[in-house]
Amino acid sequence: MSGFGKCTVIVGCQWGDEGKGKIVDVLAEGVDIVARYQGGANAGHTVHVGDDEFILHQIPSGILHEGRRCLLGNGVVLDIVQFFQEFDALAERGIDLTGRVGVSRRAHLLLPYHRLMDKAAEQSAAEKIGTTGRGIGPAYEDKAGRRGVRVADLGNRPRLESRVASAMSRVCERLDRLGQGAGTDLERAMEEALSLGDRLLALSCDTGPEITRALDAGQRVLLEGAQGTVLDLDHGTYPFVTSSNTTAAGAAIGTGIGPTRIDDVVGVVKAYITRVGEGPLPTGMDQAMDEHMRQLGGEFGATTGRPRRCGWFDSVISRFAAQVNGLTGLAVTKLDVLDTLPEIKVATAYTMPDGSVVEDFPADTWSLGDIVPVYETHPGWECSTAGARTLADLPPNARSYLDRLEELTGAPVRWVSVGTKRSQIIQL
Ligand code: IMP
Repeated sequence: MSGFGKCTVIVGCQWGDEGKGKIVDVLAEGVDIVARYQGGANAGHTVHVGDDEFILHQIPSGILHEGRRCLLGNGVVLDIVQFFQEFDALAERGIDLTGRVGVSRRAHLLLPYHRLMDKAAEQSAAEKIGTTGRGIGPAYEDKAGRRGVRVADLGNRPRLESRVASAMSRVCERLDRLGQGAGTDLERAMEEALSLGDRLLALSCDTGPEITRALDAGQRVLLEGAQGTVLDLDHGTYPFVTSSNTTAAGAAIGTGIGPTRIDDVVGVVKAYITRVGEGPLPTGMDQAMDEHMRQLGGEFGATTGRPRRCGWFDSVISRFAAQVNGLTGLAVTKLDVLDTLPEIKVATAYTMPDGSVVEDFPADTWSLGDIVPVYETHPGWECSTAGARTLADLPPNARSYLDRLEELTGAPVRWVSVGTKRSQIIQL
């Protein structure tokens, strides 16, 4: 697959689960390096190769293309135990990983106590976020609080031990205050995690200089985002967000390259919308339709198995995503999931509680629970799009639907995915 920039960011434009894994996998054929720039094992990127299904949590989706170098940038919080489980599982399935995976020496380690803290904090919180329970928030808290342990620290045993000891005593204190003990399992889990240190060090690298040199030498790079725009810590539906910058600007910070090296930003949108975890979903469907869409789209979390809430395409959000990410193009996924619907709604604006109509995404998250979307209704196409390989193969109503998404979002549609297989993609 060609037709994209030398250094391209792939960013989710909704609440995650847009199908970024498939888009990265398809585009990875045409690049040399794929680098993840934020998040951790909260992500679940599902990729189908032939009849095989792979769910990747931390290793970039490019790993399924032979020879591509896959990097985890400094913006990632690396769950060392789960990382090697994923690594070994891929190797067992015949993927050659030799020399192909690199982890930034500046990346922070997500250690077993972060998971404990995540679960304890959620259990005791008056206002739950509905996290994935993977320890993401506490790991980024330690990073921002300058208490974190980084991959580079694994090379200095005394420093590592002292940083881990002070983190552990702080965690145990906090767990006590929350009325939960750390238990002996934590000691064992920590031993297991740290015993993998040398193995991780052997993969460590400096992602910024490596990517920069590769670009200078004419190589091509994909920067792979996890989660989505409205889960961004700064720009999303705070506090119902993840703890990193998921948006395109995070790609430079999270890999260590200069922002001017990025020359293309592809936003991935599902042809409708879903959300998992707490927080408002303005275009949420009524109960029966929500259930119907969940079944049609198989909308269950790839990481936690939780049912995703379903809604109509929200162009207030996609326009916001175009602006905040500086989108140069769109990849629309799961168009085929809409194949059987007689009518499809699209939100064009929001009516606020005071009666005003807004087209810009409101900053006040709580107001989103009280807004009424302004919908337009499109006729469905009521036939299968799964076999379409060119735009001309799509039924006219599907083409008009895509034209409208493009117009409302303000970014050109460049790819349309019509199924889980690699071949089920239309390049415009
Ligand atoms: P955390 O990232 O586990 O702290 O979860 C914070 C919020 O982000 C919760 O609403 C999660 O459901 C959501 N979230 C985190 N990762 C993903 C993802 O990969 N897809 C969709 N939602 C996610």
